[in-house]
Amino acid sequence: MIRILCRSAAVALVFAGSVACAPAVRRAAIIDENVAVAVRQIGMLADSAETGGVIRIPSTYKNGAVEYVPVDDWVSGFFAGTLWYMYELTGDQTWAARAQRHTEILDSVQHLQWHHDVGFMIYDSYGNGLRLKHIPGYEDVIVQTARSLSTRFRPVPGVIQSWDADRGWQGTRGWQCPVIIDNMMNLELLFKATEFSGDSTFYNIAVSHADRTMQEHFRDDCSCFHVVDYDLSTGQVRGRCTAQGYADDSAWARGQAWAVYGFTTCYRYTGDRRYLDHARRVADFMLNDPNMPDDLVPYWDYDAPNIPDEPRDVSTAAVLASAFYEMYVHTDNELYKQTADRIVESLSSPAYRAAVGENGGFLLMHSVGSIPHGSNIDVPLNYADYYFLEALIRKQRIEAGEPLF
Ligand code: GLY
Repeated sequence: MIRILCRSAAVALVFAGSVACAPAVRRAAIIDENVAVAVRQIGMLADSAETGGVIRIPSTYKNGAVEYVPVDDWVSGFFAGTLWYMYELTGDQTWAARAQRHTEILDSVQHLQWHHDVGFMIYDSYGNGLRLKHIPGYEDVIVQTARSLSTRFRPVPGVIQSWDADRGWQGTRGWQCPVIIDNMMNLELLFKATEFSGDSTFYNIAVSHADRTMQEHFRDDCSCFHVVDYDLSTGQVRGRCTAQGYADDSAWARGQAWAVYGFTTCYRYTGDRRYLDHARRVADFMLNDPNMPDDLVPYWDYDAPNIPDEPRDVSTAAVLASAFYEMYVHTDNELYKQTADRIVESLSSPAYRAAVGENGGFLLMHSVGSIPHGSNIDVPLNYADYYFLEALIRKQRIEAGEPLF
């Protein structure tokens, strides 16, 4: 199916071709084809998530059933974000209405202080809603969330503490101030909160966290540790290890992708070239490591012992594709665009994208949550779909000659 892309200032247009405007750029067939599949798949998932008038948050699909998470789970914002992206890709207001419902059930997250993931949760949902629909009150939610996240800033080491060290399985590791590389993904919300509020505290916390992370999380080859634990009174590093990777000194794939994406985002908000250069070095590691498969869908850990008989992690590939489109815009280096396009092609193939009507309605198969925890292994995950749709939007904008942000 080939359609003419016609984009109004309000981003609203036209899956069904009902809005007339001058033809702009023909949207790539691979985007149209993915959107057509997503309309059916995500539509099915959204219908089941609202069965009986109750709004639930789908996270994965296992043993023939969709699984749902509570609002305080770190993945709770991705489905709302996916719905916003469906609206952006189709222009169909039905998606916006659904997205708004799924966003606003997360209202209480703005006050959540017991883990760091509120950046993911609120920016993917309220952040996209604000960007696309300018909904009154959403800015306030983002600023309040930034206040909550800032309560986790530890000034001596200069980082945001990711996890509490006295609860759950994290409480068994002897950590004082664990920081995980994933935390780079929460910084965008802080940068935005400074824009909205004029309070530079949030920006300064984000920069401090990014700088210390750049200094402490990376090895000589620019692969990164998953967890760095800091001493709260001296600020020194107490240890470097993993929680979700194969080994303390291995390269957990999604962690590397969070680093590429997170430092690229920091460059966008600060203009500080060190962040972009760092993201490029981590990307070089990911792309050049001999264990990167030809189809660019990484194994769950670059050092997993039984490669090639190890699960792939589609979520890592989706995050990378989206990050590479942004890196292309900042660098003009075609390699990033071409690599992102190759990942999108891989993920659009039957090896990774589910047939319509299958996979519980999720688009992509074969992601890995956490092998050490025995959790969500080789399943669909809502964040894989979220970053895949984001990558499609970025590809579309680049090819239409439109700004990404
Ligand atoms: N942020 C948790 C994960 O990437 O699994």
